[in-house]
Amino acid sequence: MTLTTNGSRTTVLTNIGTLVTNDPTLGEGKLGVRHDAAIVFDDGVVAWVGDSADAPAADIGQDIGGRALLPGFVESHSHLVFGGERAEEFAARMAGEKYAAGGIRNTIEATRSATDEQLQANVRRLLDESLRSGSTTVECKTGYGQNTESELRSALIAGQFTDEVTLLAAHVPPPEYAGRADDYVAMACDEMIPACAPHAKWIDVFCERGAFNREQAHAVLSAGVAAGLIPRVHGNQLGEGPGVQLAVEMGAASVDHVTYVTAEDIDALAQSSTVATLLPGADFSTRNKYPDARALLDAGVTVALGADCNPGTCYTTSLPFCIAIAVRDMHMTPAEAVWAATAGGARALQRTDVGTLSLGTRADAIALDAPSYLHLAYRPGVPLVREVWKNGALATSY
Ligand code: NIG
Ligand code: FE
Repeated sequence: MTLTTNGSRTTVLTNIGTLVTNDPTLGEGKLGVRHDAAIVFDDGVVAWVGDSADAPAADIGQDIGGRALLPGFVESHSHLVFGGERAEEFAARMAGEKYAAGGIRNTIEATRSATDEQLQANVRRLLDESLRSGSTTVECKTGYGQNTESELRSALIAGQFTDEVTLLAAHVPPPEYAGRADDYVAMACDEMIPACAPHAKWIDVFCERGAFNREQAHAVLSAGVAAGLIPRVHGNQLGEGPGVQLAVEMGAASVDHVTYVTAEDIDALAQSSTVATLLPGADFSTRNKYPDARALLDAGVTVALGADCNPGTCYTTSLPFCIAIAVRDMHMTPAEAVWAATAGGARALQRTDVGTLSLGTRADAIALDAPSYLHLAYRPGVPLVREVWKNGALATSY
C-alpha cells in the first residue's frame, strides 16, 4: 500500500523496537505499547500505526533501528520569559537557606529592564533546549512583569512561540506594592487581566504564604475567567494551604506543585477533573520534599509531570530528568511517569491532539537512543532523545 493524500509528504518510521502510543486500543496497557512497530505521518498527523512488517510505503522512510519511539513530551508548566538568573540564590539554598517566594522580585526587576530582544532570545534558547530533551509542546507563563505593561509584553513574546500562553497575573506582589497585596490584586483584576487576556489562554496565580491568599487568588482567577481565560493554579508548593481546594472549586485545568496536601485535598482532586501537575525539579532544586505521587495516583487523581523551568526554583527544561526523579523518589512506575509527561501534560493543557500517537493526532514524536521507554529512568542524566519530529517533520530548533 502507498499512502498519497493531499499532495503532502508522508513519512514512515519502521523497525521501532518499542512504540508508546498512549492509546490502549493500539497496544498493551495504558501506554498502548507495541513492539516491532511502524508509524506513518501524513500532513503533520499520524495516519497509520501497525506492525513494521506491514508498513506502507511513503515519500520518506526511516529505519528506527529497534529503538523506542514515544509521543513528544507535553510540558505544561514553564516560566521562560525572564531576564537575568539567580544562581547565587540556588547556591545559598544548597548551603542551607530556605526558598522564599520573595526571590521572584529579583527576576521581576531584571525582566522589566530587559529588552524585547533579550527576552525573545531567552525564550528561544530555552525552547530549543527543551526540544532537544523531547518536549514538543510547551506552555509558557508570564509572571515576571507584574505590571500591565510588562505582563502584556511577556504575553506577546510568549505568544510568538506557543499557543499555550498563561497569564500568571499574580506571582508575587512587585516592589511598588510591597505590603499592599490587596491593592495589587485590584489593579490586576481591573486593568492588567482585561488588557492581557486577548493574548493568553490561561490565567494562573501563586496561592501560597508569601504570595497570594485564598481570597486574592480567587479574585484573580475570577477576573481571568470573566475575561475568557481558563484557570490553573500554583498551589501547595511550600506548605499546606488552600490552593488545591480553590483549583478544584474553580474547575481549574490543573493545580501545580501539590507537594503538601491533606487527605481532603487528595479526595477533592480525585473527584474532580483538575489535573495534579507535579514538578519534582522544583522540589529537587529547593531541597523540598517530593509530592506523594503514589497517594494521588492510588486515589485516582490524574497526574501530570512538568519541568517548571524558571530561574528561581528550577532551572531545568528536562522532562527526562523529572521522569527519573518521579520513578526513583516518588515511586511512580516508569510507565506512569512517561504517561504523566506526555498524555498527562496534554490533559493539563486540555489538549487531545498531542501527548498520544493515535490516528489523527499530531505527529509529534521522539526517538530514544534506547530500546525502551524504561531507559528514561534507568539512565538518568543521559541525553537519550536522539530525534524529534514536530508536526511530522524532523525538528532541531524553534
Ligand atoms: O513554579 N512557585 C512559583 N513560581 C515558580 C518559582 C518562581 C521563582 O522563584 O522565580 C515555581 O516554582
Ligand atoms: Fe511555576
